[in-house]
Amino acid sequence: MDIKPLRIGNLVSRLPIIQGGMGVGVSLSKLASAVTNAGGIGIISSAQVGFKEDDFETNSLEANLRALKKHIKIAKEKCNNGIIGVNVMVATNGYAEYIKAAIESGIDLIISGAGMPTMLPKLAKGYDVKLAPIVSSLKAAKVILKLWDKHDNIAPDMIVVEGPKAGGHLGFKKDAIEEANESFDDTVKDIVDHVKEYEEKYSKKIPVIAAGGVFTGEDIAKYLKLGASGVQMATRFVATEECDASQAFKEAYVKATPNSVGIVKSPVGMPGRAILNPFVDKTLKGNVKVEKCYNCLIPCNPANTPYCITQALINSVKGDLDNGLIFCGENVSRIKEITTVKDLMNKLQSEIEAN
Ligand SMILES: Cc1cc2nc3c(=O)[nH]c(=O)nc-3n(C[C@H](O)[C@H](O)[C@H](O)COP(=O)(O)O)c2cc1C
Repeated sequence: MDIKPLRIGNLVSRLPIIQGGMGVGVSLSKLASAVTNAGGIGIISSAQVGFKEDDFETNSLEANLRALKKHIKIAKEKCNNGIIGVNVMVATNGYAEYIKAAIESGIDLIISGAGMPTMLPKLAKGYDVKLAPIVSSLKAAKVILKLWDKHDNIAPDMIVVEGPKAGGHLGFKKDAIEEANESFDDTVKDIVDHVKEYEEKYSKKIPVIAAGGVFTGEDIAKYLKLGASGVQMATRFVATEECDASQAFKEAYVKATPNSVGIVKSPVGMPGRAILNPFVDKTLKGNVKVEKCYNCLIPCNPANTPYCITQALINSVKGDLDNGLIFCGENVSRIKEITTVKDLMNKLQSEIEAN
């Protein structure tokens, strides 16, 4: 099929491919700028983005805000001021401060899920930045569209619909995953239909982006034919030279088999998908000590959390896999090699064109 550029208001991306934000430290300025340079949209994850700063242990919020600004500046420079977005989870402590820091640094697009981004329009009011909620169901899409319309008199600039094959935290209860899998394509279509009312009211296009388990250009073509304007992909971008994670983290993706992927409990109170490794075993046996609280996520209670998600994700991204949680999408076992972002994007482009 012919590829139409992805338009988000006045922002135009040559390819309709957004690289999903990946915390902690998996999608920073290096990966995000490489994706934008290759014709897509790169997204920096704000989750504990300052983990390499000297004062992270003692002053994590300030370290994170400083690092977020730094990565946005570097990414924008590396891609000649191309489109760069940030992913900020609603469940983050200090959410408003991350949004403010991203806007002040000239971010083009804010993608926000892991909760309902009800406050986002107020925080971004008066700034030239595109706002995109992540939803996992038609019901959630309806709620957020209605709330923004009623309280802020605006419509989202884009909506990401994330299905149950995604990596990281999932917007589904464990026992609802299978059913949601079967109905995901219908959910995308229903949301494409539902936004029409708001597109008319606000005289603007609201691109709907499908996410979760998108692996090939054929998959992308399928969602474009269903009415989506693009896709968000994360897992495939981990196995690239430019991904900001350690080599060991990337190799764990290449080695993964279908049996080594499972659903784990996250301290956030949502299920997550991860590679089943010795660390996951330890959490199941209650053998992980929480030594310190980084005050990262609002729903986590350090008194009864099975493990510290900040520590677990920092360990894995740095390469200490036996003590780390390796988030991944369901299709991780289909990854066979580490490639470059450019080669991956070229491959996806020719596969879309062939479908
Ligand atoms: C390692 C990893 C970390 C992730 N971290 C985040 C995150 O911090 N915030 C978020 O909203 N989504 C996160 N996600 C979800 C992705 O942004 C994306 O929407 C999803 O994984 C898409 O599915 P795919 O991986 O099958 O392509 C993460 C995914 C992975 C694989």
